[in-house]
Amino acid sequence: MSTRRASNASKSLASTIGRFEMQRSKLKEAIMKIVVIGGSGLIGSKLVSKLREHGHEAVAASPKSGVNTLTCEGLAEVLKGAAVVVDVTNSPSWEDAAVMKFFETSTRNLLAYEAAAGVGHHVALSVVGTERLLASGFFRAKMAQENLIKGSSIPYSIIRATQFFEFVKGIADFSTDGNKVRLPLALIQPMAADDVASAVGRVATGSPVNGAVEVGGPEQFRLDELIRQGLAAHNDPREVVADPHARYYGVELSERALLPADGARLGETRFKSWLTQSAAQNPSRNARSTVKTASVTH
Ligand SMILES: NC(=O)c1ccc[n+]([C@@H]2O[C@H](COP(=O)([O-])OP(=O)(O)OC[C@H]3O[C@@H](n4cnc5c(N)ncnc54)[C@H](OP(=O)(O)O)[C@@H]3O)[C@@H](O)[C@H]2O)c1
Repeated sequence: MSTRRASNASKSLASTIGRFEMQRSKLKEAIMKIVVIGGSGLIGSKLVSKLREHGHEAVAASPKSGVNTLTCEGLAEVLKGAAVVVDVTNSPSWEDAAVMKFFETSTRNLLAYEAAAGVGHHVALSVVGTERLLASGFFRAKMAQENLIKGSSIPYSIIRATQFFEFVKGIADFSTDGNKVRLPLALIQPMAADDVASAVGRVATGSPVNGAVEVGGPEQFRLDELIRQGLAAHNDPREVVADPHARYYGVELSERALLPADGARLGETRFKSWLTQSAAQNPSRNARSTVKTASVTH
């Protein structure tokens, strides 16, 4: 009797150890070198932290760390042993020819170096509705980036995100005319950069989808209402006007042009709670700005 009990106990111990070993080796298998090109940027820096929290070897790469996708400086070195590359770069200039040159050159170089290094998954961040916004040079460049990725031999995932909450002030600045911010009558479903980074991280650590996935925020707003709320939270006195003739970065928008399709994955952070958090974190941003600038990020 006691021999049978001892044998059962040792079987159960063996099976516990077996399960433990299996989980450990799965975990080990799942840990990857993931290079984040644009890893110093808004999304890139959040993404690198999240990937590291999950145990991955995440490498932040950008000109600041000696990796330049335009000149190819540092590319071969940083891609050695990488399983996944995430491209969250942005062009320093939005001028039509400059932004096209940036995304075409950068994407071509990156894909060529990835192929040479044997990278198995290329992930890129793009924008929901890009194909509806082609009157803008910026979106033509994003489309060119997507097409180069689709035409390459590397398995890929494109994540199309809606506008970041962090971008609200940029939209206002770009649409400012005197003391008025003029915006078209369109809907928008923005999301927190933190939720974008989480979505990119999930895709980057999964299998390539060889297509695009859309992500958006949990709430829809009228564009003017969103910007009004964003400016009010920073005591910005500019008047926000809904104007059927106004354009969005030079684009005539249809009402739903900026919205993700049904079935998009949605972030959890609501705009009001993000505003409260960011006002607490950056009290100095509660200052008025009326600068009309083309150097905002998108
Ligand atoms: N804003 C939005 O609402 C929105 C919505 C959907 C999608 N997106 C897309 O999200 C992406 C990331 O946006 P973000 O706001 O996180 O960008 P960001 O903060 O402006 O960061 C841009 C990054 O690109 C890097 N970079 C610039 N030139 C480079 C080069 N030649 N080689 C390598 N890296 C280079 C920068 O590096 P350094 O710091 O070293 O200069 C920086 O890390 C963009 O492609 C954008 O189109 C934006």
